[in-house]
Amino acid sequence: MTTVITYGTFDLFHVGHVRLLERLRALGDRLIVAVSTDEFNALKGKKAAVGFADRCEILRAVRHVDLVIPECNWGQKRSDIVNYGVDIFGMGDDWAGRFDDLRSLCEVVYLPRTRGISTTDLKREVAAARG
Ligand code: CTP
Repeated sequence: MTTVITYGTFDLFHVGHVRLLERLRALGDRLIVAVSTDEFNALKGKKAAVGFADRCEILRAVRHVDLVIPECNWGQKRSDIVNYGVDIFGMGDDWAGRFDDLRSLCEVVYLPRTRGISTTDLKREVAAARG
């Protein structure tokens, strides 16, 4: 059983998210998604348009996702990896190199992002459409 884990906000869930999750799930047998809570995002200076509970519900409905857990702080990755028996930690390559310290615990991979779409772009497009 190969367990893969990833972390993120996944606000305004879009096709870039779907493709990342599909590719991560294909690396193993079980994909865990740790979703940033609204409180953790506030600490990071971010505010999601969609609240934490709804973002989790959307992710639980994605067939590539086996388990959704909350991400509450920067430090929990190490304990999650140990507690959930994680073999592969994976993120999009906008995070390349940022989590290499976790290689002492598991494999770390950075997958290419889907070009041309992001939550930031979607927010900008919606704002522009409103005029
Ligand atoms: N991701 C991806 N391709 C995209 C957008 C995101 O592979 N086009 C990945 C990110 O690299 C990350 C995960 O999806 O590993 C969650 O990213 P998140 O920050 O929630 O989404 P973004 O669209 O990047 O949001 P923002 O614009 O707010 O940074």
